[in-house]
Amino acid sequence: MRFPAEPFRIKVVEMLRRVTREEREQAIREAGLNIFAVPADTIYVDLLTDSGTAAMSDNQWAGIMLGDESYAGSRNFFHFQSVVREIFGYEHVIPTHQGRVAENLLFSTILKRGQVVPSNIHFDTTRANIEHQGAEAADLVIDEGLDPYALHSFKGNLDPAKLERLLTDRGAANVPLVMITVTNNSGGGQPVSMANVRAVRQVCERHGVPLFFDACRFAENCYFVQQRESGYANKSVTEIARELFSHGDGCTMSAKKDGLVNMGGFVALNNAEWTQQLTNLLILIEGFPTYGGLAGRDLEAVARGLREVLNEDYLAFRIGQVAQLGELLEHAGVPIVVPVGGHAVYIDARRFLEHVPQSQFPGQALVVALYREFGIRAVEVGSLMFGHKDAGGRDVFPQLDLVRLAIPRRVYTTEHMRFVADSVIQLHREREKLRGLRLTYEAPVLRHFTARLEEIGPAPAAVPDAGRPGHELRSRA
Ligand SMILES: Cc1ncc(COP(=O)(O)O)c(C=O)c1O
Repeated sequence: MRFPAEPFRIKVVEMLRRVTREEREQAIREAGLNIFAVPADTIYVDLLTDSGTAAMSDNQWAGIMLGDESYAGSRNFFHFQSVVREIFGYEHVIPTHQGRVAENLLFSTILKRGQVVPSNIHFDTTRANIEHQGAEAADLVIDEGLDPYALHSFKGNLDPAKLERLLTDRGAANVPLVMITVTNNSGGGQPVSMANVRAVRQVCERHGVPLFFDACRFAENCYFVQQRESGYANKSVTEIARELFSHGDGCTMSAKKDGLVNMGGFVALNNAEWTQQLTNLLILIEGFPTYGGLAGRDLEAVARGLREVLNEDYLAFRIGQVAQLGELLEHAGVPIVVPVGGHAVYIDARRFLEHVPQSQFPGQALVVALYREFGIRAVEVGSLMFGHKDAGGRDVFPQLDLVRLAIPRRVYTTEHMRFVADSVIQLHREREKLRGLRLTYEAPVLRHFTARLEEIGPAPAAVPDAGRPGHELRSRA
């Protein structure tokens, strides 16, 4: 397949430092084989996350210079509010400095102990904010959404039958709202169809329960709807977004994704009573309602970013760039989750490193090798992140060991992506050389952030490069 070229040209560049394999070897050893502890300036292509890593446009930077830093009533807030109202259609707009604060405001206000919040799959911070209130976060994605190789155009869909059952069993009084995450990050960035949103809405209406969206990647989701769902090919992504949100009562958003900024977020909703309560808490923990933890200039950048993200040339390039990386890997026989989602490519590390048992962290072994050999930072989403011991002291592992290559927005060129593909393919050819890891330190919670590990057996030999210019970075000082 052919994919669109970059629909932008580059006006400002950030030079990357040349780093040898020896330097990286030392950095990763000092980091205890934990990629989170590696200095970012020793990395060539950083695919740790697509959150807060976007490149802003000249238009956004120009907006930054028009920041009105008045404590109250900044003009940038009114611009931000009008853009959010126009796209999302909700009356009340509450700025926050990032997505998890939006979640915290919402759930610490409306959620009671023992209640349950269903979603397709809750993102980690959403789940944590729900559980923090003594409530339950229920994941009700369709079965295909849990199968890495099931081919389905909308693997992020929330199963309406599962939702109906939950609402009947638990009672609507115990469900303050239903949430749909678009795209479904924890399920591989898979989109949700409009038909599914309508079906979920109907269930919600029957039970009198509000519907909210986690809108982090709404534009990417709506682009998939345009491309894949019948009846939407001739609608603009903006029209699709308006229709999508018209089926809901509100949303939370981390603007660090489809807001195309490095920091920012908001809650938008129609319920005036909830708004009053959220605003009171906002003043306590974030700031006055017209800035909510952000500078005026930041609000301006979000307002402009939200419009830019709906540019369809941008979206065709964005979704195409991620798909192209997936296609290059798939053609070379690298096992990846399919279809490729909107913001990342996920490698199936158990299939990639069949000789490394789950107890030896195949995903993390792959992450370490990608950095050490090629200067690429990916993240493990598997045994290291989710593994734990049960009450009897036995190891419990997740079903999948994945390595996520998350693509920052407008940051890397297609040639960077080819470099990543060549490197992963080269590592796949040499996979027998990779060995498992064991933990030398683990924290009681969220262990992946601070864990320290070591290789089982002697130090691995260098993997030959794939002959791409980027590989010079590893051999010449
Ligand atoms: C789907 C989803 N919801 C919420 C969040 C939390 O946003 P933030 O990191 O801005 O707090 C993220 C961040 O990655 C996300 O992907």
